[in-house]
Amino acid sequence: MRVPPVIGHRGASGHAPENTLVAIERAATLGARWVEVDAKLTADDVLILMHDDTLERTTNGRGAVAAIPYAEIIKLDAGSWFAPAFVGERIPTFAAFVATCQRLGLGANVEIKPCPGRSRATAVAVAEALRGLWSAGTGNVLVSSFDPEARSVFQVVAPEYPLGLLSSSPPTEAALDAAGRFASIHVDVKTLTKKEVKRLKSRGVPLLSYTVNEPKIARRLFGWGVDAVFSDVPDRILGALNA
Ligand code: G3P
Ligand code: MG
Repeated sequence: MRVPPVIGHRGASGHAPENTLVAIERAATLGARWVEVDAKLTADDVLILMHDDTLERTTNGRGAVAAIPYAEIIKLDAGSWFAPAFVGERIPTFAAFVATCQRLGLGANVEIKPCPGRSRATAVAVAEALRGLWSAGTGNVLVSSFDPEARSVFQVVAPEYPLGLLSSSPPTEAALDAAGRFASIHVDVKTLTKKEVKRLKSRGVPLLSYTVNEPKIARRLFGWGVDAVFSDVPDRILGALNA
């Protein structure tokens, strides 16, 4: 697995509605080689791209994703909240997302983002979907999760896929020791210091940081040894790196 330095966060979510196919396509157009997305299950166990557990913020629907079947989810408008130009954009299935990445030559960090109580089912669904659609041997797919249960289930059911330890603060040495297998560490930029980067890098796996939209901050992180940043505006970070 070779992670590029800039990963489009939820696609290019500063330019297009997050976790939609148009946001994935925009990331590729803007030069990103990988995207990060959030995956969760509908009430009837269809794997979709969606960040929140509820529909209100990013769609014209209401209620909990876990309570609504895919036949209803697919009717929702997931674009107009972002800008009128995106009216009619739909919540994609995970399968449609994978097909889009493969068409565009994009790699992906798939974040398992279970709705409450659905950790095991969501981890298994991501594992099964990847097995059917995206071989681990391609080296351009990385799975991650904040959810310890989702991570431990995924480790067992899909050991062939790299799994990232995703944490809102730098994991302690005890947490790293207890985490089992991990292929990368992903940490909130707001909590990272030079000292923590050095400590985490001593584990010998790539260190990734979210969400970085300012080139100055990206440069500082790379100077400390961070391997990759997730950005809503990958073009802005890539432009500054190439300048
Ligand atoms: O996977 C990195 C980042 O996406 C984690 O936070 O809330 O944006 O999914 P969030
Ligand atoms: Mg995410």
